[in-house]
Amino acid sequence: MIDKFDRKITYLRLSVTELCNLRCRYCMPEDGVCKKCHDDILTEDEMVRAVEAAAAVGVNKLRITGGEPLVKKNILSICERCAKVDGIDEVCITTNGTLLTEYAKPLRDAGVSRINVSLDTLDPDKNLYITRRNSLEDTMNGIRAAIDAGFKKVKINTVLIGGFNDDEIYNIASLTQQMPVDVRFIELMPMYNSGDFDKSAFVSCEKVVDTLTDAIPVFNDGVAKLYKLPNAIGNVGIISPISSHFCNECNRIRITADGKIKPCLHSDTEISIKGLNKDEMISAIKKAISEKPQWHGDLSYDERSKANRNMNQIGG
Ligand code: GTP
Ligand code: 5AD
Ligand code: SF4
Repeated sequence: MIDKFDRKITYLRLSVTELCNLRCRYCMPEDGVCKKCHDDILTEDEMVRAVEAAAAVGVNKLRITGGEPLVKKNILSICERCAKVDGIDEVCITTNGTLLTEYAKPLRDAGVSRINVSLDTLDPDKNLYITRRNSLEDTMNGIRAAIDAGFKKVKINTVLIGGFNDDEIYNIASLTQQMPVDVRFIELMPMYNSGDFDKSAFVSCEKVVDTLTDAIPVFNDGVAKLYKLPNAIGNVGIISPISSHFCNECNRIRITADGKIKPCLHSDTEISIKGLNKDEMISAIKKAISEKPQWHGDLSYDERSKANRNMNQIGG
């Protein structure tokens, strides 16, 4: 389906849970989230139905997000059923990687085609600080497990945080010279509650380009502008939702674990699909697409995201 601003909507991000085994400071509070009762979250059948409904209006790419999708008990069954939906060409997943040593192979068998992994630092102490858990080794092993399981184009997502990891840009980017991965630096988005971070933590992705003086620009991929380091296997990408937003090319809608369609990551417009049959879901998705705003509005630390949710309650 084409929206009011001539954008073709082909990509659904489905969050399967708000829960996570980490507590990244920019994403969720230390105490985690109250586990919602079953009646408040989509059932597996509803999730699959929502994907069928989205496919019926032209979605062909699905990304499973969270929270951490791999803490969801029935994640393999969700992926397997979604991958079989008519019209869905690609099921991808965004994960913190900590459970991938166990799950990489089964995810591949379930029909998942691509994996993106969040990793903000290569320093164990800084990792403990940012995720509030000791997770670096598990994440690194998870990335290797995904590659060993045969996943191509594994992408590492690094949220760029001033005074925290902007001194590691080169080290993290050079993972692309060591393994078959892309590394993408993402500007920190001021969510409803981005925890401890204020204005001073925002660093424009221009700093990545300035730091990687020997990188050459290559083609763009989705929301990322890509560069390549000498002798690298993968690319380095920058995702700049703040300094250079990409809303005019936005092709996506989101569905949250509690069953709300979000036409835009940073808007508070939400349309519920909980308890609906497939035809009703199709109508709800069409309505959401017709209400998709032109852009997310000014975002800064004075003008925070209008979505009244933290990132773990949306799915990025
Ligand atoms: P690919 O399918 O590999 O292109 O993945 P992706 O970049 O679409 O998904 P991923 O989950 O890896 O997201 C990377 C980062 O981009 C996350 O920080 C998301 O929050 C951010 N992001 C994804 N979609 C949007 C969007 O529509 N608007 C904004 N502002 N940020 C987004
Ligand atoms: N700003 C930018 N990216 C964020 N992510 C989570 N919270 C934020 C934020 N406030 C990233 C995660 C993950 C992706 C889905 O979103 O690191 O890679
Ligand atoms: Fe969990 Fe991802 Fe949020 Fe970190 S960014 S707390 S890994 S959902």
